[in-house]
Amino acid sequence: MKLSLRFIIPLLLVLALLASAAMPLVDRLTFRWFVKDLDLRASLIANTVHEPIGRLAAENDVAGLHALFSRITQDERLYAVGYCTTGFAQPEGTPTLPTGIRCDSLGRYLRPSGHVVVDSHGPLLISARPLHSPADSMGAIVLVQDLSFAARRSEETKRYLFYFFVGLGALISVITVVVAQLSWRGWVQGIRALMRGEGLLRPTGRTAGSELQPIADDLRTLIRDLESEHRLRDGDQLAWTPETLREILERELRGAQVIVVSNREPFIHVREEGRISIQRPASGLVTAVEPIMRACSGTWIAHGSGSADRDVVDASDHVAAPVEEPGYRLRRLWLSKEEEAGYYYGFANEGLWPLCHIAHVRPIFRTSDWRRYEQANQKFADAVIEEARCDDPVVLVQDYHLALVPRMIRERLPAATIITFWHIPWPNPEAFAICPQREELLDGLLGSSILGFHTQFHCNNFVDTVDRQLEARVDRETFGVSYRGERTLVKRYPISVEWPPSAAASSHPVDACRDLVRAQLNLPPDQALGVGVDRLDYTKGLEERFHAVERFLEQYPEWIGRFTFVQIAAPTRSRIEQYQSYEHRVRTLVARINDRFPDRRAPAIILLASHHDAHEIFEYYRAAELCFVSSLHDGMNLVAKEFVAARDDDAGVLLLSQFTGAARELPEALIVNPYDADQCAAALDAALTMPIRLQRARMRLMRGLIHEFNVYRWAGRMLLDAATVRRRGRFVGRPLGSIKHTRFTDDRRIASEERQAAIQRRL
Ligand code: F6P
Repeated sequence: MKLSLRFIIPLLLVLALLASAAMPLVDRLTFRWFVKDLDLRASLIANTVHEPIGRLAAENDVAGLHALFSRITQDERLYAVGYCTTGFAQPEGTPTLPTGIRCDSLGRYLRPSGHVVVDSHGPLLISARPLHSPADSMGAIVLVQDLSFAARRSEETKRYLFYFFVGLGALISVITVVVAQLSWRGWVQGIRALMRGEGLLRPTGRTAGSELQPIADDLRTLIRDLESEHRLRDGDQLAWTPETLREILERELRGAQVIVVSNREPFIHVREEGRISIQRPASGLVTAVEPIMRACSGTWIAHGSGSADRDVVDASDHVAAPVEEPGYRLRRLWLSKEEEAGYYYGFANEGLWPLCHIAHVRPIFRTSDWRRYEQANQKFADAVIEEARCDDPVVLVQDYHLALVPRMIRERLPAATIITFWHIPWPNPEAFAICPQREELLDGLLGSSILGFHTQFHCNNFVDTVDRQLEARVDRETFGVSYRGERTLVKRYPISVEWPPSAAASSHPVDACRDLVRAQLNLPPDQALGVGVDRLDYTKGLEERFHAVERFLEQYPEWIGRFTFVQIAAPTRSRIEQYQSYEHRVRTLVARINDRFPDRRAPAIILLASHHDAHEIFEYYRAAELCFVSSLHDGMNLVAKEFVAARDDDAGVLLLSQFTGAARELPEALIVNPYDADQCAAALDAALTMPIRLQRARMRLMRGLIHEFNVYRWAGRMLLDAATVRRRGRFVGRPLGSIKHTRFTDDRRIASEERQAAIQRRL
């Protein structure tokens, strides 16, 4: 209503203004018309009476003239008549003739429009007309006409005009209010319906519906896009929690089905001494993805590698997870011993793992391993297809074990949104070119809608590799790769840990952890403690770390017996020869260093080469003065972030290898080159002697960063991007869908044949 008034009030004001300007104008105009009419009438009367007046005047018949005049003035509008001739001072006429008219000043009444005077009777029009005989002038006739009727008519006209403007104003106002109300309600309802996702237009008939539906759909999409862009812009301000993720899934992805697929499972059932127990694997991937799955529900497909895994699944190989409080489903997939050997130990971990890490271990590529890798990838892709309840699920493919899976899924579920995350570094194009199956791997990965890496450096390396190896179009501005008619967004998503860490809820206070851990390790209560937590992997730089400890004790002998470095080392990939020899070298090195610095109080290094659960590790983090991460090359390294997250006392120092992705995010750590033993030794001393004030200043900054850039943000940013990709795909691609699909299917078939031919050629 307010809106209508805002329109109506000015409208009425304008109308009133128009009316007040129009009325005098109309009045003047109509009056002029009346005067003109009467003037013509005067000429007509004069012409009519010209003859009898001439005759009566000639006969000097005054009585006759008066009789003629009273006959003429029978007409109610002819008020008076008079006659002037030579020698007359006053006209001879009817008694009603105004006395002010003089025969010697008739000139002003001779004008065509006459002369208007107002006397006690009202307005009068005085007109004079000369009377001519054929011989000479006979004088003039004076006609006085009553103009009061014109004044009455003018009043009436003004009244009508007034009513006309009032009526017009009212009519326009009513129409305005009705139309505005109807349209406003319609729009409001429409927009509300759009927000509810029901559509703007509610067609009454079938035909109307089908015609208007695309417009409504497009509008809806557009509004969501705008909303979403807004959310994306605001994404940086979001507090990232499990709820944020759920909300993104619900609102941005409209509750889409989420399927995670990885080689490693989030928990493993193992049989020990006849009893089944659960183990959480030492895996950065699991650490990051598990909280996401708890938040998003969905299905996680992974290799069932535990000795008791088959004993606990249902008929369709599912098990509810996590066991304590089920929130998602784990679908286990079985691999034969040969498949596991070729795909996991062989191609993935003897080939790709050393290829992608600059750790000076030569990669091994066997054709038989490649075959197993292809087979296993197909199994994972088949499982995704089986688990998909719709044709457009959101599939999160994890890591280098499954590089072919994105393309395999894309071929079967073209509408799926596939986000692949590569958890390890991507090498430069020259290094990657070593791999005989490089093109197949790139082709597989480019089946993804989005391909994520931890750092921009790895994104750059990937895009450079594609540019070098494939006939693909690389857009370096948007970091998009167009290949075989489809586009993959290559983007940096730095992985992180959950915040707050779930272990914090059940953990002891820091002081209690200090005492507990020292007691467990048989160390004196005041022993300074450094901690390292890794898989027993050559990329982790354990040998370099222990050399640094050795150098530290050499250079700062006052710490001998007062400092112990405890290394938790989870055995990993122990069937691979490189890992066996690495473990052997590490154990020998620890023994040698401990022999070199014998002390009754405590050894220099304690190596705990066994599996530890997350709670135990959390206590070690809290008990230590420092944590040392010395990876020779690492995509991110979550141990660094876990240590920081565990230190809610804001104390403790992190020594961090410059070759980890984490070093780019945590410059407040003591950043070291693990190959430089002297530098690392100095950093160990700096950490152990750092004043608590400085420790807190550094730790608070790091905790602030991890709080904000936690694992929910890592997944949330990918899901938000997935939502955008999905929306754009629908909005832009729909009308072309069928054409596009046919063409791409052909492209894929041709490419697949070419691939097979290439493999044959190599063989
Ligand atoms: O770094 C890659 C990665 O998949 C990590 O996510 C994880 O820490 C590690 O490898 C696990 O290795 P695996 O599954 O072979 O034990």
